[in-house]
Amino acid sequence: MPNHNTPAGPAGGALPLHPPEGAVPLHGKLSVSGLRVTYSSGGKSVTPFSDVNFSVDDGEFICIIGPSGAGKSTLLFALAGLISPSAGEIRVAGRVVHGPGGDRAVVFQDDAVFPWYTVEKNVAYSPSAAGWDRKRKERAVDEALSLVGLADRRTFLPGQLSGGMRKRVDVARAFAGDPETILMDEPFGGLDTQTKESLQEAILEIWNSKKKTILFVTHDLEEAAFLADRVFVLQKGGGLNIVPIDLPRPRTSAMRTEPALQSYRRLLGDLIRSQEESGNHVH
Ligand SMILES: Nc1ncnc2c1ncn2[C@@H]1O[C@H](COP(=O)(O)OP(=O)(O)OP(=O)(O)O)[C@@H](O)[C@H]1O
Ligand SMILES: [Mg+2]
Repeated sequence: MPNHNTPAGPAGGALPLHPPEGAVPLHGKLSVSGLRVTYSSGGKSVTPFSDVNFSVDDGEFICIIGPSGAGKSTLLFALAGLISPSAGEIRVAGRVVHGPGGDRAVVFQDDAVFPWYTVEKNVAYSPSAAGWDRKRKERAVDEALSLVGLADRRTFLPGQLSGGMRKRVDVARAFAGDPETILMDEPFGGLDTQTKESLQEAILEIWNSKKKTILFVTHDLEEAAFLADRVFVLQKGGGLNIVPIDLPRPRTSAMRTEPALQSYRRLLGDLIRSQEESGNHVH
């Protein structure tokens, strides 16, 4: 699997020719139908899921949870266009996804920063690959760095940063190319609680100000309930439960301990446990 964002040209394709007056084009609308992914190697094949269906609206924050091996990363990589479905299709703004595109950025679980590039060069990666002129590139990098609070570390190398700061570089890099959709695979997985909570609040602020669509894989059920508009619970074998999180926004740190959020956390836990009890077999 590539360990860096894979920028490419805009996905191309047509917008509606004559949108009704005042209508907002569905840039970020993402839909998945009958999706199956099969890995084949050495005469063996693994099919983590075989009939996944959902759609995501522009600007939604979706968290994806599910037992280990259910195919969360696989689903994210398929949405990113890094692996091809063996059946079904993925559409973004009505266009079938055939590969990576500048409209979708990925934040991988492991640090994906280039260690030999400074912070600002890392963040400039997508804008450079997209061929933006110097002014636009600088503006994008400045904005992304200030969004994640790293403006004063721009000349540092990743090795001179803390783990949480490196994660911020990843996040800044994903936003800098101005994608419509951001795909994040357990981005805060290895971090201590305090750093994680502050990054969760930062990502909500950025999401709110930039109006992006985010799909965010996590094992942390409280994180899922805290961040999401809807939580997708991926089952082993590919079924999907969708849990809307009916909590007000903005989500504040005080809400973490409130009964409403905690009861969502318990519900999500029950859904995963019922999965593990009923579906714990190799596919
Ligand atoms: N490159 C690959 N080749 C073959 N099988 C693979 C490959 N990548 C993943 N798989 C298999 O696909 C299934 C789903 O893996 P995936 O990494 O998507 O799960 P996950 O839900 O992200 O799990 P986790 O929570 O542990 O990260 C697993 O059975 C895994 O072994
Ligand atoms: Mg995974």
